[in-house]
Amino acid sequence: MPATDHRPTEPAMGPAEALSELFTPAGKHHPYSLYDALWHLGPVIPLGPSGTLVLGYDEICTALRDSRLLVTDATVHRTTGMIEHSSWQCFTKIMMFSNPPDHERMRRFSAWAYAPRQVAERRHLAVRAAEHWAARLATLDDGGPIDLVEAFATRVPVTVTGELLGIPEEDRMALRTAITATTTAFEPVFDREELRPADAGMDVLVDYLDDLVRERRRRPGDDLISTMVRDRDTGGELSEEELVASLVMFLIAGVQSPSDLIGSTVRLALDHPAEGRRLTSDDDHIRAFVTETLRFDPPNHVLTRAAATDIDFHGHRIAAGTRALLVLAAANRDPRQFTDPAAFDLTRTDNRPLSFGLGPHYCLGAAFARTQVEAAVPVLLRRFPHLTLTAPPAYRDQLVTRGFAHMEVSLGA
Ligand code: HEM
Repeated sequence: MPATDHRPTEPAMGPAEALSELFTPAGKHHPYSLYDALWHLGPVIPLGPSGTLVLGYDEICTALRDSRLLVTDATVHRTTGMIEHSSWQCFTKIMMFSNPPDHERMRRFSAWAYAPRQVAERRHLAVRAAEHWAARLATLDDGGPIDLVEAFATRVPVTVTGELLGIPEEDRMALRTAITATTTAFEPVFDREELRPADAGMDVLVDYLDDLVRERRRRPGDDLISTMVRDRDTGGELSEEELVASLVMFLIAGVQSPSDLIGSTVRLALDHPAEGRRLTSDDDHIRAFVTETLRFDPPNHVLTRAAATDIDFHGHRIAAGTRALLVLAAANRDPRQFTDPAAFDLTRTDNRPLSFGLGPHYCLGAAFARTQVEAAVPVLLRRFPHLTLTAPPAYRDQLVTRGFAHMEVSLGA
């Protein structure tokens, strides 16, 4: 059952048409053929007052390094009224949606939590979680299909991130639905009602972590929350609301994209059985496999920037106040950067997808995410060498944060 992200599209499609098609449920499920259709219009596509679409690899690199292209922060979300929603109230207090000088201050405060030594120490947590959930899978096997997203791909990162934050085991799985719901706030919103699930999810996470912060302030432990509370209370440059928001962010980012990446890595391993088998025994191979998965089918397709001033951009003008939509997943298939980009090819050299971003907002959790996936997938494939898909996996109805809603498999044990 090979990957079916491509389906034929009219190459003559106009930009507005292709863009509106992209954010329909069908477009979100099959975006790559639409990126191809858009690619015929060039690496930078002006969309008038709606902004600029950027698809090219070099062009996105320039955009992510251009200090005049800002992330959509509290000022922007106040203007649009989105900040009235609890989802955006929280997101605008984190570094990902903050610009200088707040961005540097927040990144400085949290950087230690993502340092290489911390990440290396987390590897064993990921292996242990993967072994636990793989063993549990075997007990669920009654011969019928099993949803690997529910039973493994989300459980490993929920366990690892839950342990790091010191979230009691019995609470962890209940937070999963709220975590995924909050990520729907990143999608384009056509009607404010669409933000309801994200707002509800955010209320759950903020209330929960707010309580846990209070509890750890009273009774510190050796977890990340206790350390962050202590750092803040001894002069760290973060407000209490920003502290809770950073922890919410750590929980969402720690779980959703790694879970999505585990899903797509397993799916591609099953699509390429010979290469998939090598994942169980060859560390260099798993690293190359995850890099190519990040290029071929990344967990985040689109980043947004807002122009602080008029900008001459690769022969086009991005007007002050308008947005640039940077389509990372299209740049990862830019034929000027990647030979035969639609092929899943593990022999690529100098394979540098843009899936973790670039520049000042480059993903702080990139090494942590890779560690989890590189540890978990081999454990699963070693335990179940005859794992097979029993149906094409279904994507969630999301493009910005993209991954499988379900992935039905037979364990073949
Ligand atoms: C496969 C997994 C992941 C992917 C694909 C991913 C992707 C990204 C991308 C594209 C950005 C840049 C956003 C921008 O420029 O606007 C980013 C930023 C960030 N990511 Fe990740 N991420 C992943 C996992 C994680 C994990 C596990 C954590 C932490 C637990 C994390 C924490 C962050 C943080 C804190 C930022 C903001 C950095 C800043 O604004 O300075 N990410 N991520």
